[in-house]
Amino acid sequence: MHTFQDLAADFSARFNIDHFPESPRTLYEPGQYFLQIGGKRIRPVMCLMGNELFDAIKPDAYHVATAIELFHNFTLIHDDIMDKAPLRRGMKTVHEQYGENTALLSGDVMLIKAYDYLNKINATYLHKILHLFNKTASQVCEGQQLDMDFEKQQIVALDEYIRMVELKTSVLIAASLQMGAILGGAGEGNAKHLYEFGRNLGIAFQVQDDYLDAFGDPGKFGKKVGGDIVANKKTFLLIYALEIATGNQAEQLQELISGNEPGKVEKVLEIFKSCGVDAWAKQLKDSYINTAFKHLEDTAVLSARKKPLEELASFLVHRDY
Ligand code: IPE
Ligand code: IPE
Ligand code: MG
Ligand code: MG
Ligand code: MG
Repeated sequence: MHTFQDLAADFSARFNIDHFPESPRTLYEPGQYFLQIGGKRIRPVMCLMGNELFDAIKPDAYHVATAIELFHNFTLIHDDIMDKAPLRRGMKTVHEQYGENTALLSGDVMLIKAYDYLNKINATYLHKILHLFNKTASQVCEGQQLDMDFEKQQIVALDEYIRMVELKTSVLIAASLQMGAILGGAGEGNAKHLYEFGRNLGIAFQVQDDYLDAFGDPGKFGKKVGGDIVANKKTFLLIYALEIATGNQAEQLQELISGNEPGKVEKVLEIFKSCGVDAWAKQLKDSYINTAFKHLEDTAVLSARKKPLEELASFLVHRDY
């Protein structure tokens, strides 16, 4: 069994090549710029771990892992346009560096490249993998649209937020594990448990992402802290604060989020803190992580084999970047 560090190094060594032709440079250089900055590579590693839970890693698992990471990077390039984000992974976002139109197109061509890698896998698995990949990709788009719809909505309920997060973030994590499991020869029941593990873990992962967007250390986080507040994102932090704040503070919060006054981010953060969002974030993460771990327990393989996944899950909800 391999650890996250082992598999991330193994995957990165294979992934860190030029994925695109040379010309036109204006199209392909931005994509390569973005890929070579790096990233945690958690989704491809999850695909490899999903495979290794059941059997030695198959060559096809690397193709699928590559397709997943390319797809993920494509979603980030487009997400940064939609979120007007200036920074990612400690570097300028693609649209900041190369302009929006080029960012759109270099994202598109990255998505197409992802399908090239899927097309390399054994025909026995192709149908099943492609079906899951496409279903997941559509769901990510659905989640991203809801995320933007919510920016304009005054009130969003916690269960609506969770559904949005499940679509934009969780299903890709869940599917990465399940695709690996399929290639590793997992039975139907085990593959389902692993998907549910990923789905619940993915929600906790996005909760941590939203938490870091508000309270992360700018030097470590790599993205612009406070971006979600500026963009009027309906994160669990805001949903909770709107529920908890009373009197003067409630009025102040309503007023702040309806406008864009100077010092908005700092003022909203103060209110978040005084509402006790820290404890709430922990509680929310714990509840999803516990459910995730139940599904991992119910996966019928020797518990020693599950260790790398358990460690990765803990890292994901406690990470600071
Ligand atoms: C960022 O994902 C997008 C979300 C779903 C929150 P990651 O935090 O995995 O991004 P990288 O690939 O490590 O930069
Ligand atoms: C993004 O959620 C999810 C996808 C890219 C599909 P966020 O907008 O919160 O991700 P970051 O914070 O920009 O990485
Ligand atoms: Mg974003
Ligand atoms: Mg977004
Ligand atoms: Mg975020």
